[in-house]
Amino acid sequence: MKLVRARADFLRGFVNTEEDDSALEELSRQNRDLVQVLSELEEKREQLERLNTKLEESNNELNQANAQLRELSAMKEEFLALTTHDLRSPLAVISGVINFFTSGRLGELTGEQKNMVSMMERNTQNLIELVNDLLDASKLESGTMRLDLATIELRGLTDDLRQQMLPLAAEKGIALEESVPEDLPPLRADRAKLRRVLVNLISNALKFTPRGGRVSVSAAPERGLVRVSVADTGVGIPAEDVRDIFDKYAQARSRATRSEKGTGLGLYITRQLVELHGGHIEVHSEVGRGSTFTFTIPTAGSDE
Ligand SMILES: Nc1ncnc2c1ncn2[C@@H]1O[C@H](COP(=O)(O)OP(=O)(O)OP(=O)(O)O)[C@@H](O)[C@H]1O
Ligand SMILES: [Mg+2]
Repeated sequence: MKLVRARADFLRGFVNTEEDDSALEELSRQNRDLVQVLSELEEKREQLERLNTKLEESNNELNQANAQLRELSAMKEEFLALTTHDLRSPLAVISGVINFFTSGRLGELTGEQKNMVSMMERNTQNLIELVNDLLDASKLESGTMRLDLATIELRGLTDDLRQQMLPLAAEKGIALEESVPEDLPPLRADRAKLRRVLVNLISNALKFTPRGGRVSVSAAPERGLVRVSVADTGVGIPAEDVRDIFDKYAQARSRATRSEKGTGLGLYITRQLVELHGGHIEVHSEVGRGSTFTFTIPTAGSDE
């Protein structure tokens, strides 16, 4: 009996301390806090869910807008492709008529008439080139440009081109040099497109090089590819513009080149064509000293 009482006293003493009261209070306070935090959490969860639904809605709207934009862009490309294509036929007719005049079959032309006809000829040629550029740019953009790959000797192509461009170089007082080794491995390329790449680079070099300068075309083999360079001693390209010149319609802002006419499509097309061949193009340039454009084209033996 004594033992039981002692034990009860012991227990009572244990339970009734003030510390235990405050511990209980603390516990129930924490409990209340917890309940509150839980309800706040629940509220937040609901808010998040609402936000999520809104996000999903905006996402859907964005997707729709995106699809519309893509459709519009495709329509724009198609329109461009069709109109440029349609422009080519009348231009070919005009060009034919001009040839008729210059051939002398309509009788001898006076000096003034000759001047006018040659002005018409130059401008028609510019227009034809512009239309061709637009057409190619639109084909490259839509991914419909196809390569007609063949085995090509670069030297034959550059010899041809040099002959073709010598009169223009001479007119501008620029030396046009070519150092393409004859024993270069043959390339795997589309002849017309490779020609286009070279014409674009050489005509830029001639365009942006002052009288008395030099333009040289060279090439060297390198594991599975050939590295072709077109270098000039021209005005050069400011460092801040080098990054952009391969973009559509981009032209360097320097005063030295601004006066030259052009659309700024040349290098865009050039880079796309090189990359379509599996090659790469880069430029090193120094203002006032000149520029060197270098591109690579796989050799015929290097079929992956
Ligand atoms: N060899 C070069 N020397 C100096 N600047 C150059 C040279 N090649 C290109 N550029 C600069 O890069 C720009 C873009 O060249 P790109 O060939 O794309 O256009 P463009 O020659 O102006 O016009 P297009 O070739 O379409 O008739 C040029 O306007 C010029 O500012
Ligand atoms: Mg150009």
